[in-house]
Amino acid sequence: MNTENVRPVTRCRVCGARDWQEVVSFGEVPLANAFLEPAASYEHEPAYPLGVVSCRSCRLMSVTHVVDPEVLYRTYSYVTSDSETITRHMEFVASVCRERGRLAPGDLVVELGSNTGQQLAAFARDGARVLGVDPALNLAAVANERGIRTLPEFFDPSCAEAVRDEHGPARLILGRHVFAHIDDLTGVLAGVRALLAPDGVFAIEVPYAVDLLEKHAFDTIYHEHLSYFLVRTLDTLFTRHGLRLFDVERLAIHGGSLLVLVGRPEARHPVTDIVGELIAAEERADLGSDIGYEEFVRGVRGVREDLPALVRTLVAEGSRVAGYGASAKGTTILNICGLGPTEVSYCTDTTVLKQDKVLPGTHIPVRSPDHARADPPDVYLMLAWNYADEILRKEADFLRGGGRFILPFPKPTIVSADSVR
Ligand code: TYD
Ligand code: ZN
Repeated sequence: MNTENVRPVTRCRVCGARDWQEVVSFGEVPLANAFLEPAASYEHEPAYPLGVVSCRSCRLMSVTHVVDPEVLYRTYSYVTSDSETITRHMEFVASVCRERGRLAPGDLVVELGSNTGQQLAAFARDGARVLGVDPALNLAAVANERGIRTLPEFFDPSCAEAVRDEHGPARLILGRHVFAHIDDLTGVLAGVRALLAPDGVFAIEVPYAVDLLEKHAFDTIYHEHLSYFLVRTLDTLFTRHGLRLFDVERLAIHGGSLLVLVGRPEARHPVTDIVGELIAAEERADLGSDIGYEEFVRGVRGVREDLPALVRTLVAEGSRVAGYGASAKGTTILNICGLGPTEVSYCTDTTVLKQDKVLPGTHIPVRSPDHARADPPDVYLMLAWNYADEILRKEADFLRGGGRFILPFPKPTIVSADSVR
C-alpha cells in the first residue's frame, strides 16, 4: 500500500468522536483528478485506500483516508466549466448571496477555492470588491490574468488576518464545493470568524449526503471529498465553532447539493423553517442510526454489479461504448466498477487540460468533443450525469441517429431518442 502522503482518519473532524460505522470500502483507488500523459506503462501510479465511514455521534460521513492537500491541489486539473448549467447556477448563487447578505456595491466578497475566478466575476460585475483564495498555482495564475485578484494559498487564520489587514472585513465569504475538501475545519472556521464582518454571511455549497445516499451516487466518493454532510451535522459543526447556520437550500447542482448560509449568532439572522424541516426528514430516514445506511450499501453493490455487466454485454453484442465527461466522478465510477479501455474506447471532455491525457487508473484516453463527433460511439456512458439534461439536449443529433446513453444511477438505465422525447 502507498503510505506516503496519506493518513487514516481516526477522530471525527466535526465532533472529535472515534466511533465509526463502516459504510463502504472500495480498496485502493488512484486520485480522481490525476490525469496522466499517455505512456507505454503506468507502473508507479499511486493509489490510496478509499472508503466511507459514518460518525455514530454527529453522523458526519467521512472518507477513511486523507491525502495531503499539497498533493491534491497545488496543480489542479479541475477547471470550473462554462457549461450552461454552471453559468446559470453561478448567477443564482450570486443573487441569493446578494439578497441574503444584503450586499452593497464596494462590499468585500472573498471566495475560498475560487478556481479561475468565474464565480467572483459574477459579483464583480455588480460592483463588489472581490478577492479569491485558491491553493492551485496554475488556476490562481489564470484568475489573476483575467483580472480577478487571487491569492495562491490555503485559507487559514493567518491568511484571513492578512486579508483583513489589507482589505477590511468581508461582507460575504463564499466556498462553493470546497468545504467538503477541507480537513482542518477548525483552522478554516477560525479564519472565517477572523475575516467576516459582524453581520456578514459565510455561504457554502456542499454535496448533500441525502442525495448521495438516495441516488447510490458513490462516484461522489473520492479522495478530495473528505466530508458528506447532513444538515444536522453542519448545524452541530457551526455551533461548535461559534457560528450559526440560519438558512439552507437544496439544489440539483453536482448531483444534489446544499447551499448553506451561516452568520455570527450576535447578528441574529432569523433561522428559516427549512433548516428544522430537513433535520427532521433526516431523522425520519433513520440517518441518525446505522440502519439508515443499509439501503445505500445495497444500492452501491447493485450498481457495481449491474453497470459493468451492462457495458460488457453491449460490447459483446458489437456496440462501441465511450464515456461522456471525464469528470472526477467519472474516473471514480470507472475505477470502482473495473471498466477500462477494453470496454470504454475513450472519454470525451470539453476541458482542454484533460484532452489527450489518459484517465487515472483505467488509462482510458480523453478526447475532445470534435474528435468524438468525428468518431462517435454507439453508446455513451454518461459519466457527467449531473449535467444529463444539458447533455441530452446538446446530443439530440446523436440520439436521433440511434445513439444511446447509459445513466448509471440510482441503477443503470439506457436512454434513447424514444425515452427523451
Ligand atoms: P463536474 O461534474 O463539474 O465535476 P467533477 O469532476 O467534480 O465530477 O465535471 C463535469 C465534466 O464533464 C467536466 O470535466 C466537463 C465535462 N463536460 C463535458 O465534457 N461536456 C459537457 O457538455 C458538460 C456539461 C461537461
Ligand atoms: Zn462526529
